[in-house]
Amino acid sequence: MEKLPVIIDCDPGLDDALMLMLAFGSDQLDVKAVTVSAGNQTQDKTFTNAIKILSLIGTNAPVFRGAEKPLSCELIISNDMPGEMVFNEPSFPAVTTVPNTIPAAAAMAGILEEATKKVTIVATGPLTNIATFLSNYPNLKVKIERIVLMGGGIFRGNMTPLAEFNMYVDPEAAAIVFRSGVPVTMCGLDVTHKALVFPRDIELFRTFKNKSGEVAASLMELLAKNYPEQTAELQGGTALHDPCAIAWLLNPGIFTTKACYVDVETKGELTRGVTVVDFYDVLHREPNTMVAYDVDRLALIDMLFNAVRNLP
Ligand code: RIB
Ligand code: CA
Repeated sequence: MEKLPVIIDCDPGLDDALMLMLAFGSDQLDVKAVTVSAGNQTQDKTFTNAIKILSLIGTNAPVFRGAEKPLSCELIISNDMPGEMVFNEPSFPAVTTVPNTIPAAAAMAGILEEATKKVTIVATGPLTNIATFLSNYPNLKVKIERIVLMGGGIFRGNMTPLAEFNMYVDPEAAAIVFRSGVPVTMCGLDVTHKALVFPRDIELFRTFKNKSGEVAASLMELLAKNYPEQTAELQGGTALHDPCAIAWLLNPGIFTTKACYVDVETKGELTRGVTVVDFYDVLHREPNTMVAYDVDRLALIDMLFNAVRNLP
C-alpha cells in the first residue's frame, strides 16, 4: 500500500516520543520531515530530544529546528522536566540524525513545493511553526491535505480550566491554523483522556526485548508520574495525548468524530487559548474541524504495541 506523505511537527516531550514511535513503527507513513517546536521544553531541549528519539527509532528522516518562542508572547514550558532524563539514558544509541540548518517553516515550504501529491501535517505541540509557514507561504496551503493535531478541548483544559497546553502556549498561532481554511482534525483532551494506558499494558512493552520497548515503557511510566492529578481522574490510567494524532491518521475508524466549527480565543482574561468548539452548531457556521471525542482504547494500544515491536 502506498505510504501517506506527512510532515510531523512536535515538541518532544514524553508523549511526542511515543507518537514518533507509532508514526515510524507503523510503516504506513512516508515521513518527509520532523520539525520541532518549543513547548514541553525550550527549543534546544525539544530539538535534542527529537534527534535522540529518532536515532533510537533508526530513521534518517530530516529534522528541522523551529521557533524559539510563540508568535507574540513569551514561551511557557510544561512541567515535562522528567522527559529529559529518559532522553539522557546512557544506553541510548549514538545520535545519528544530522540536524539541518533550514528553519522549520522554510523546510515545510520546500517539501510542499516539490510534492507531487498533497501532504498531511501532524502537529503535537504548540502551532507556532505551522502558523509561520501558513503566513509566509499562503500559496502553498493548497498542497496541504489536512492538519491533524493534538490540542484543545471541547469542555476541558489542563493549563487553565478550559485551555489545553499546546493551544495555551501560542493562541495566536492556533487561531491562524483553525482560520486558515485548511481542513483540521482536532484530538483534544476529551478524546486523549480516553486514550489510556494502564500499568498492565506498560509491562507488556518490556516483553518485546527491544530497546524501543523498554524506552516506550519508561516514557509511559514517567507520563503517569508527571500528571498524578489526571491519573487519579483517569482511574489509574495515563493519557496518551500525542499518539492520538497519528492513530487517527492510521485508522480514523477507531475514533468518534464530529464536524464542528472551531475557533480559538486569543484575548480572554480567563479564556485565552481556549478552543471554542461549536459542538451543537449554535452559530450555523461552516464546520472547519473534525473533532475527535471518543476512541477505541484497546485498538489504540494495539496499534502502539505493533509499532513499537517493529522498532530497534
Ligand atoms: O496537553 C498535552 C500536550 O501538551 C501534549 O502534546 C504534550 O506533549 C504537551 O505538549
Ligand atoms: Ca507534545
